[in-house]
Amino acid sequence: MSLSDMTVPRRRGRRREDSRLADHVDRLGEEHPPIPLGSVDYTMKKPGLLAERFGSVLSYMTRVELEVERNVLELNALLPDPPEVDRHFYLDVWMPQETRHGQILDKLQQLIGVDPHEPNLAEVSFRLRFLGALGRMPGVQDISRMLYYLTGLATERSAVLAYNKFHAGLVELGERAVAATVVAPIRRQEPGHFAYYQMAAQELWDQLSDWQKWLTRGLRKRTFEVVGAYNKRQVADFGDVMTQLKMSDGGEEELREYARQVGRAEHELLWAYRRGLRVPDYVFKSLKRAAELAAERKGEVWPAAQPAGS
Ligand SMILES: [Fe+2]
Ligand SMILES: [Fe+2]
Repeated sequence: MSLSDMTVPRRRGRRREDSRLADHVDRLGEEHPPIPLGSVDYTMKKPGLLAERFGSVLSYMTRVELEVERNVLELNALLPDPPEVDRHFYLDVWMPQETRHGQILDKLQQLIGVDPHEPNLAEVSFRLRFLGALGRMPGVQDISRMLYYLTGLATERSAVLAYNKFHAGLVELGERAVAATVVAPIRRQEPGHFAYYQMAAQELWDQLSDWQKWLTRGLRKRTFEVVGAYNKRQVADFGDVMTQLKMSDGGEEELREYARQVGRAEHELLWAYRRGLRVPDYVFKSLKRAAELAAERKGEVWPAAQPAGS
């Protein structure tokens, strides 16, 4: 059976969901154009304090938002023949929005004197190019696409959680202009991305065969990493983000709750058949590693020992 024989019925079966997905993308594009640069108010009360309290968050989020430029190159390598609705989403809607998030955050970090993290805008890893080459084999590209949607789900959820905490922290500091005109509008655009991946993932998952599902689960488990981290230093940097956002000072219990939120969508999709597994353990383990590496870099141990009598 040729590849075209295999794909025709699948594409036909997808038509109705595709139009639902396409409508969602069109709506996102219309309702959420890139945030106008002129709408941002960088008025700050204490920029030095902002840098001290949230510098690591800002430099991390800026890098990750700017790196979507490379993510698009990765998608081109990974999915040689993507469905039109995916291309439309990531090229016309997602990339322009995220790039603007990066530009706005970048200006903020410059204004307050935070050392920027060098974004990798163009270098696609060997692993991804290799997966892309494998994707020319029947059935494999669907697995790559599934992994792309799953990464998107965890990434967008992590972004919303981080921006929620960042927003609350800015309000607490009294930095209302930055909270209202930088973080709030960025945060408003992330759930639409999440919804896209959720619809796309659900639809594709229902079409995968058993061996494809099995391989997807195995690969996901082995390759999961915290959002935007591609090496050990960046994993530790993410640990710093969690520290500044006070997401990890409650020890393992708090981190499990965070892992549950990040991993919920993929848990329901991939692992729900295994009753009792409340959180994909690999999500918790990578968050824990980030917390540990960040502490280790500062010569500390995570979680910090509780003072006696507490
Ligand atoms: Fe973003
Ligand atoms: Fe996003």
